[in-house]
Amino acid sequence: MSDFQLTRTLDENAAEKALRTDVRGGLTGSPKKLPPKWFYDALGSELFEDITRLPEYYPTRAEREILLERAREIATESGARTLVELGSGSSEKTRHLIEAMPALETYIPVDVSESALRGAADTLLAEHPGLKVHALVADFTRPLRLPDSPGPRLVVFLGGTIGNLLPPERAAFLASVRAMLSPGDALLMGTDLVKDEAVLVAAYDDAQGVTAEFNKNVLAVIDRELGADFHTAEFTHVAVWNKEHEWIEMRLRARSEAVVKIRALDMVVPFRAGEEILTEISAKFRQEGVRKELASAGLELTRWWTDSEGRFALSLSVAEDPVG
Ligand code: SAH
Ligand code: AVI
Repeated sequence: MSDFQLTRTLDENAAEKALRTDVRGGLTGSPKKLPPKWFYDALGSELFEDITRLPEYYPTRAEREILLERAREIATESGARTLVELGSGSSEKTRHLIEAMPALETYIPVDVSESALRGAADTLLAEHPGLKVHALVADFTRPLRLPDSPGPRLVVFLGGTIGNLLPPERAAFLASVRAMLSPGDALLMGTDLVKDEAVLVAAYDDAQGVTAEFNKNVLAVIDRELGADFHTAEFTHVAVWNKEHEWIEMRLRARSEAVVKIRALDMVVPFRAGEEILTEISAKFRQEGVRKELASAGLELTRWWTDSEGRFALSLSVAEDPVG
């Protein structure tokens, strides 16, 4: 008998309201921008899984390599009975960790994508019938109320998704993770590392055009949810390396002048030819930067592992002792 529960922290009205606010704010400002969380409807979640299998997209393979090598060490060190995963998606790599955690009783995957959460739970429960899975449909950048579960807890944030947040958003996010940790709990976080520009750009502009499709999917979401007509305008996928900030920027560029109507917002959005919408940043890190950002949130980096080619890192951190 499977033990599965799913809690929606946002009802449909609240989710649509958040989309309206983000679209209105993002498309009236200059430069135009949209938050990356809106990529992930059911199709967007599948497209992301396709991305993880592309030859150019190394982060998933690199992170899996580290997890396979270190899962036992992480499991022994944390001794966790509860595993909380933020932005869990398909939980595909997490399975390596779960297999190595003999004390694990409860898995709490948190994601905005309900389809991804359900798919992941089906697979996991088939493999681990004794595991309790309590999925949360929630935005991890908002205050989270986790279900009661036994400690110690290991909170994991994989894939390098931390890099999709802007620095102030990362600071707020890490502070909220810090607040979730009790003594004995730990955070395991994946960060993609700074590397050669050509390798990075190829990972975000693959030859098959899957990343382009993923990027454009945010427009399909807005068309469907808010009655917009982005499909009538033509946008091209752009991926550039921002050297100053050390992040990849994904943008959508209007091929020609266009006016897009968004019925639910009673709004028209004019585009100049070549005008872009920033749809995602994907920051790349260095160890010292990660250590500092963790420390600013009251977290102490205790372990740092990279894959054999030094492309990606997993870090383990714990709450610093409160001063005084
Ligand atoms: N951790 C997985 C998936 C990474 S893709 C991996 O490493 O492969 C990023 C995941 O985070 C997606 O499943 C997406 O739906 C989710 N996500 C993005 N923004 C989110 C937010 N603000 N709150 C909750 N989940 C979010
Ligand atoms: C989820 N996140 C870590 C991915 C990344 O690499 O920034 C999202 C992605 N965007 C384009 N390709 C993959």
